[in-house]
Amino acid sequence: MADTLTVTDNRTDKQYELPIKDGVIRATDLRQIKAAPDDAGLMTYDPAFMNTAACRSRITYIDGDKGILEYRGYPIEQLAEKATYLETAYLIIFGELPTDAQLEEWTREITLHTMLHENIKKLMEGFQYDAHPMGVFLSTVGAFSTFYPDAKQIFDEQSRKKQIHRLIAKVPTIAAYAYRHSIGRPYNQPDNELSFTGNFLNMLFRMTELKYHSNPVLERALDVLFILHADHEQNCSTSAMRGIGSSHVDPYSAMAGAAAALYGPLHGGANEAVLRMLKEIGTVDAIPGFIKRVKAGEGRLMGFGHRIYKSYDPRARIIKKTADEVFEVTGRNPLLDIALELERIALQDEYFVSRKLYPNVDFYSGLIYQAMGFPVTMFPVLFAIPRTAGWIAQWEEMLLDPEQKIARPRQIYIGASKRDYVPLNKR
Ligand code: CMC
Repeated sequence: MADTLTVTDNRTDKQYELPIKDGVIRATDLRQIKAAPDDAGLMTYDPAFMNTAACRSRITYIDGDKGILEYRGYPIEQLAEKATYLETAYLIIFGELPTDAQLEEWTREITLHTMLHENIKKLMEGFQYDAHPMGVFLSTVGAFSTFYPDAKQIFDEQSRKKQIHRLIAKVPTIAAYAYRHSIGRPYNQPDNELSFTGNFLNMLFRMTELKYHSNPVLERALDVLFILHADHEQNCSTSAMRGIGSSHVDPYSAMAGAAAALYGPLHGGANEAVLRMLKEIGTVDAIPGFIKRVKAGEGRLMGFGHRIYKSYDPRARIIKKTADEVFEVTGRNPLLDIALELERIALQDEYFVSRKLYPNVDFYSGLIYQAMGFPVTMFPVLFAIPRTAGWIAQWEEMLLDPEQKIARPRQIYIGASKRDYVPLNKR
C-alpha cells in the first residue's frame, strides 16, 4: 500500500501524487495544482482550523472519540491521582517526570520567584476596584515584559529557563493580588514554606493569623484541578500563544495574548458562564424550559460540548469525583442539584445526543471553586494559572521546531475589485 494520495484535477485532467505522512498531506503540496500557468495554485479553506494540523507536537495527546487525555504519554487519570501540579508542570515543560533531585531543584527555583516587584503591585493598585480579575491578570502578565527585558533573548536557553521559572512562580501571586484588590484587602506576601497550592490559598485567604493553614482536602482538590487544566494541545489560547510567539516576541507579551484568548466565554470563561447559567435557572423545575430555549437556539448549555471530545470529557469525570470530596468539607453547593439534573436531562435528549454534546471540564469546576469561596470572576484566572505550564511548553516547542515560521494564514479575497478613488464631494 502506497502512502500517497492521487488527485485528479478535472479542470486540466492532470494527476498528482501527494505523499501522506502521519495521516496528513501537506497543504503546500497542493500549490503545484494549477488550472493555468499564472494560477497561484490550490489552497485549502479551513475556517476555525477544523481539519488542519499546524504543528507536530510531543506534549499532549487527545483521542476525542475515546475520551483519552495524556500529557507526554501519561494518562490524566494517573497524574490526577498520584502527581502534584508542580510535578505535572515539570513533565509538560521538560518532557519527563522529575527525579527526586530534579523536583527539589524545580520547587526551589519556583519558590525563589514567587514575589512580585513592588512596582507591579503599584500597577495593579491602579485598576478600578471592580476590575475583572482576568483583565487585571492578562494586563499584568503583559506588563512583565517591561520589567524583564532579558526575556527578549528567546533563543538563549538559560534566559528561557529563567522566564519559565518566573512565569510558573508568579502567576498565582498575580491572581491572588487581583483577587485581594477586588475585595479591597491588603495583598498577602507569598509564604515559601507552603506547597505551590497551599501558598496560593495563603495569598488569597490569610487574614490576621501569622501562619495560614489550608484544609488539606481543599488544597489537594485545587492541585488536582490545576493538573487537569495544565495543557490541552492546540486549543484557542495555546494557538494564540504559538501564533504570537511565532513573531519572536518575548513570552510575557505572547502569554498576555494567550490569556486574553482564554478569557472568552467559549473557552476559559465558560466556567464562569456555567455558574451564572445555573443561578439564572434557579430551580430544578425550571430546567425543561431552559433546555427548550437552548434547543430553539436561544443560548447555549454552557459547560457542554467540545471541539475535540465527542464523548465524555475525561477531565469532567475526575472533577465530578473531586467535587464530592470538596463538598464533604464545605457542605453541598445548592447549585449541584440543578447541574446534576441538567446533565441527566441533556444526556437523554436527542438534540444533545445526536450532536455528541457531553459535559466538559468547565461544567463542574465552577461549583467546586464556588464552594471553596472563590467569586465567579476568579474562575478564568484559576484556569490561567495552571495553563501557564502548557502555554510555555507549547511556545518553547514552537520556537525550537525548525519547520515553524511566523504564523500567517492565507485568505480568499471576496471584496471589491480594483476601483478608482472618489473625491469626498462626489460620494
Ligand atoms: N449548547 C447547545 N448547543 C450546542 C452547544 C452547547 N453548549 N455546543 C454546541 N452546540 C451545537 C451547535 O449549536 C451546533 O448545532 P447545529 O449543528 O444544529 O448548528 C452543534 O452543536 C455543533 O456545535 P459547534 O458550535 O459547531 O461546535 P464547536 O466545535 O465549534 O464548538 C464549543 C465547541 C466548546 C465552543 C461549543 O460546544 C460551546 O460553545 N460550548 C459551550 C461553551 C463551553 O462550555 N466552552 C468550554 C469548552 S471546554 C474548556 C475550554 O476549552 O476552555
